[in-house]
Amino acid sequence: MFPKKTYTKRRKVLKKQIKSGLVLLMGNELSSMNYTDNTYHFRQDSTFLYYIGLDLPSLTAIIDVDKGETMLFGTELTIDDVIWTGPQPSLKSLAAKSGIKKVIPPTQIATIIKKAKKAGRAIHFLPPYRPENKIKLSEWMGLPINGLSCISCVPLAKAVIEQALVKTKEEIKEMEKALAITADMHLTAMRTAKPGMKEAEVTGKVHGVAISAGGNLAYPIILTVNGQTLHNHYHGNTLKKGQLLLGDFGAETGMHYAGDITRTFPISEKFTEKQRDIYELVLAMEMASIDACKPGAIYKDIHLDAARILVNGMKDLGLMKGDTDAAVAEGAHALFFPHGLGHAIGLDVHDMEDLGEDLVGYTDDIKRSPQFGLRSLRFGRALAKGHVMTVEPGIYFIPELIDRWNKEGKFKNFINYSKLKSYRDFGGIRIEDNVLITGKGQKILGPPIPKTVGEIEVIRTVALA
Ligand code: GLY
Ligand code: MN
Ligand code: MN
Repeated sequence: MFPKKTYTKRRKVLKKQIKSGLVLLMGNELSSMNYTDNTYHFRQDSTFLYYIGLDLPSLTAIIDVDKGETMLFGTELTIDDVIWTGPQPSLKSLAAKSGIKKVIPPTQIATIIKKAKKAGRAIHFLPPYRPENKIKLSEWMGLPINGLSCISCVPLAKAVIEQALVKTKEEIKEMEKALAITADMHLTAMRTAKPGMKEAEVTGKVHGVAISAGGNLAYPIILTVNGQTLHNHYHGNTLKKGQLLLGDFGAETGMHYAGDITRTFPISEKFTEKQRDIYELVLAMEMASIDACKPGAIYKDIHLDAARILVNGMKDLGLMKGDTDAAVAEGAHALFFPHGLGHAIGLDVHDMEDLGEDLVGYTDDIKRSPQFGLRSLRFGRALAKGHVMTVEPGIYFIPELIDRWNKEGKFKNFINYSKLKSYRDFGGIRIEDNVLITGKGQKILGPPIPKTVGEIEVIRTVALA
C-alpha cells in the first residue's frame, strides 16, 4: 500500500467533486472457477484499490460525503477461518492503514443505504462488472439486476476518471516497476524462442518471470506466430524459421499497476527483407506517434497521423495507391490497422474501462467515430500532463478481411489487392510502449527493450548461437 495520506487525500479530492450523498465503493469477491472453493486468482477492484488500498476480498466502503467520513464494511476472521488462512491482521488495523476508523459488519450496508435513500440522499455507485457485485448491489439498492446499468453512475464515474487518469509520482514509480518486470518478460521471450519450440513453452517462461517478481499478468499473454489475429490466446503452434513472433504481454505489480508492451521479432536471427520493410514502417508510426504525445495533443489526431504514415509507406511498397488523406479519411488503412493507436493505462491495463470506455477516452466535443478501425480507438481526447498512454500501432495482413473487402470491391481505388496475394501468410506486426505525458512532452516508461531492427537482430543472433 501507499502511505495512509495517499488514500485520505484521494478521498478528499473525490468528496469535493461529488459534493453530497454517499459514495459506495465495492471491493471484489473471490470468484469460483469450477466449484465453490476452487476460486480464480483474486483481483481487487481497481477503484477500490485507488481510494481504499486494501487488497482483500469481500470488502465494501461507503464514503459519507456530507459527514466527511469513510466506513469500511467487512467481517473479522473467526478461528474457523484462521485454521485455513493462518492469522491475519485485524480489519481494524488494515482500515487504519487507509485512514479509516469505522469498521462495520457488511450486514448493515442495506440498512444504511435504505435510510439514506429514505432521507432523499444521493447514493453514488459505479457500474458493477462482476456478477457477485451485481447481485449485492441489486439487493442493497432494491433495484433489479438489469436495472443497474447506470445513468446515475456517470457523475461519480467521471469524477473518478478525471482524478485517476492523472498519475502521481508514487504511481509512476510503481508503473516503472511494472515495466521493469515487463521488460524482463520480453527479454526472456526474445532469448528463449527457438525454432521447434511451441508457443506455449515461451509463454510459460514469460509468465514465470511475472510471478517470480512478486506480481502477475496484467492481462492474458498474447504470444503467437499468427499476430494478424489481434487477441490470439492460442499457444499451440510450433515456431518455425522465417516466421514472426508477436508478443503482447505485461506484468502488474503487487500493488496492481500495469505494464503493456508489444514486441515482434523473427524466429530466425534476422528479419526477411519483406518483414523488415513492414517492421520499419510500424516502427516509424510508433516513434512519430510517441513524439507527438504532449499536453494538449488530441490522441485521435495522433492516431490519424499514424494512419497517414502507414498509407504513405504502403504506397511506397506498392500495396496502396491514391491520395493519402482521402484514404485515411475514408478508412482504407484500417484493412491493415483495424485497431486504435492506444489507451490509457494505470491500475488497469485498459485504465478504468469498467467505468465506461467512452467516459475515459472521449468528451462532449470529441466523440467516438463509428468508422471501422477508428471506432476501435479507445481514447480520442486531448492528452494532459500525468496521463500514461500506450502507443501501439500495428500492420496486419488478415486473409479473411482482405478476401471480404476484395470480394465487396471495397477501396479498390486505394488498395492493390493483386499485390497483397504474396502477403497472405505474412502475419502481423505490432510495437507497443507506455508513455508518460510530461509538462512539455513525453517520456517512455520502463527500461528500453530491443526495438530497432538492429537491436532485435543482435539479441536474436545471440539467442540462436
Ligand atoms: N494488451 C492489450 C492491448 O494492448 O490493448
Ligand atoms: Mn498490449
Ligand atoms: Mn495496449
